[in-house]
Amino acid sequence: MTLILGFDDYLSPAQQLAKSLSAAFKQVELHKFPDGETKVTLPTILPKHIIICRTLNNPNAKITELIITAAAAKNRGVKHITLVAPYLCYMRQDIAFNPGEAVSQKIIGNLLAAYFDSVITIDPHLHRINKLSEAIPITQACALHATGAMSEFLQQHFSQPVLIGPDEESEQWVKAIAQPHQWPYVIAKKARFGDKNVAVTLNTHDKHNIKALSLSDRDVIIVDDIASTGKTLEQAVKQIQQQAPMSISIIVTHAFFVDNALTRLKDMGVTNIWSSDSVLHSTNAFSIIDTLARQLKKMNIAD
Ligand code: R5P
Repeated sequence: MTLILGFDDYLSPAQQLAKSLSAAFKQVELHKFPDGETKVTLPTILPKHIIICRTLNNPNAKITELIITAAAAKNRGVKHITLVAPYLCYMRQDIAFNPGEAVSQKIIGNLLAAYFDSVITIDPHLHRINKLSEAIPITQACALHATGAMSEFLQQHFSQPVLIGPDEESEQWVKAIAQPHQWPYVIAKKARFGDKNVAVTLNTHDKHNIKALSLSDRDVIIVDDIASTGKTLEQAVKQIQQQAPMSISIIVTHAFFVDNALTRLKDMGVTNIWSSDSVLHSTNAFSIIDTLARQLKKMNIAD
């Protein structure tokens, strides 16, 4: 039987994954020593194939613990280790933007490839590459999307919303959600000047009809993969508000909303702020665990 290993910081989704796969679940115990190191204790009996489920927000300590876990499992005779990381860290720095900068995507990707036989994630930040295997050089590197779960969730709340993508990269997700329902959508343009400094320009022509689309009195939903500082969303909200919509909602895969981003967005009048459980957050409203479970079954990773 497949065994899912989870950690206390992502326990409930990992247990849910085990349930969806009818797999056994055990927790990896972590003990923090006073000097900041971690003692990692695995279950005493391990099958030949294990799945480690841990999301990789706040990644620095987690990566070390993950590598210790995977190496210990291999030392104990485990033959195949799958990493299920609903949020995959260090994918943004895919080139050296300035002289001297390390290309973290490649470095962390190679590290994961050395310890894991399969890696599955949701909406990783792959800007300049097409496939996850270009970042993590293994055959079974699989990037799934939250769009199916988002679409299912949104249709329970709206009948004819307008979707907004805050930048060109978001078009892939917005389109995947909008097209099955024939919901109109608009993709804005974004320029980034720094971590917390972005400009969003909205030109509301409908991608389907190539005609001007009014947002006034419409339910408008901004869709993005990640809300980090929330600045992208804030700027998009400002643009949308100029057209007096009925409501503005936000849906993202990965919720960080650092500092007081959530409060700022609510204070601006955003009605709903929703995210998936890829990162545990107060805005979690729908789950990507079934999406991961389906893929694991399809890849014959879970018995
Ligand atoms: C950018 O390419 C991403 O899709 C997000 O729009 C971006 O990372 C959000 O970051 P922030 O919340 O800091 O504006």
